[in-house]
Amino acid sequence: MKKTLTALTLSLGLILPFSTFAKNNVVVVATGGTIAGAGASSTNSATYTAAKVPVDDLLNAVPQIQNLANVTGVQALQVASESITDKELLAIARKVNELVKKPEVNGVVITHGTDTLEETAYFLSLTVHTDKPIVVVGSMRPPSALSADGPLNLYSAVALAAADDAKGKGVFVLMNDDIFAARDVTKTINIHTNAFSSQWGSLVEGKPYLFRNVAKRFNNASEFNIENIKGDTLPLVQIVYGSGNMLPDAYTAYTAYAKAGAKAIIHAGTGNGSVAKNIVPTLTELQKQGVQIIRSSRVPQGFVLRNAEQPDDKYNWVVAHDLNPQKAKLLAALALTKTKDAKDAKEMQRIFWEY
Ligand code: DGL
Repeated sequence: MKKTLTALTLSLGLILPFSTFAKNNVVVVATGGTIAGAGASSTNSATYTAAKVPVDDLLNAVPQIQNLANVTGVQALQVASESITDKELLAIARKVNELVKKPEVNGVVITHGTDTLEETAYFLSLTVHTDKPIVVVGSMRPPSALSADGPLNLYSAVALAAADDAKGKGVFVLMNDDIFAARDVTKTINIHTNAFSSQWGSLVEGKPYLFRNVAKRFNNASEFNIENIKGDTLPLVQIVYGSGNMLPDAYTAYTAYAKAGAKAIIHAGTGNGSVAKNIVPTLTELQKQGVQIIRSSRVPQGFVLRNAEQPDDKYNWVVAHDLNPQKAKLLAALALTKTKDAKDAKEMQRIFWEY
């Protein structure tokens, strides 16, 4: 990229400041969240309204990012991320896909609310075919607060998106100097700046340090492509959170949905995706009705072992492996764009082994 531009520049006799073509081009796609929030006073670090500050103000508040890359901004959405539906998720993926297809764009940063940041990041890793760095970033304090974390998070996210050695390594999440892989990261603390875990790399003073690679399929290696997804909705998948004293009603409620479109249910079970014995008949019946049952776990560490706590082969259930329930929901929805229905349980399980 830089060599082409240099040759072109010289042939046209254009003299650009050296710094212009010594830097990569990064586009910041703003969607809202706390990183764009506004509180009543500087001491309101947790009481504020998300999704208020426009992208240009976010960029102008950190002029140092222009030393890292040629940075421009796009306001794709202005929402709190808990309100992102399939419509907004697909719009973000289509915008990112459009940008990475432009030869002059070297990297993309997405500013996003932290509540569902991990889901958007994972969806981008499954559906956007590129080896250009894509970095999703948020903050736990609004820019109006004392020691706001957003400006440095944005600076570091731009540094990562502009780094040539970040290419071909999948979609990143950058928070609090930590670099995470979209597939593995999850929000583990809901009110502190060290909110995310599954450290994977680090970014300090504008320089990335990467220590691991993603073992599963992503971006160019994914069989899912945002360019092949039509409309504003994905196949409907819902999550039921497991606990003691479970009632089948939460599942049977989806039976109505099953007729209207819920083609899979993520059972966020206790322990190793356990299913209470009074719930088993309901789930086996739903499976017969064509609703794919997928066992995941409410426990953040570890993974659900197939045929361990439950005879998955016998019931034709799928296990989500180490994916948390909210990511399993996204993968199941994408899998359902390929599989016909719950009769395709083997194909669905293949997808959960590979992504
Ligand atoms: N409403 C939450 C969101 O937009 C605020 C959390 C945050 O962005 O850190 O995700």
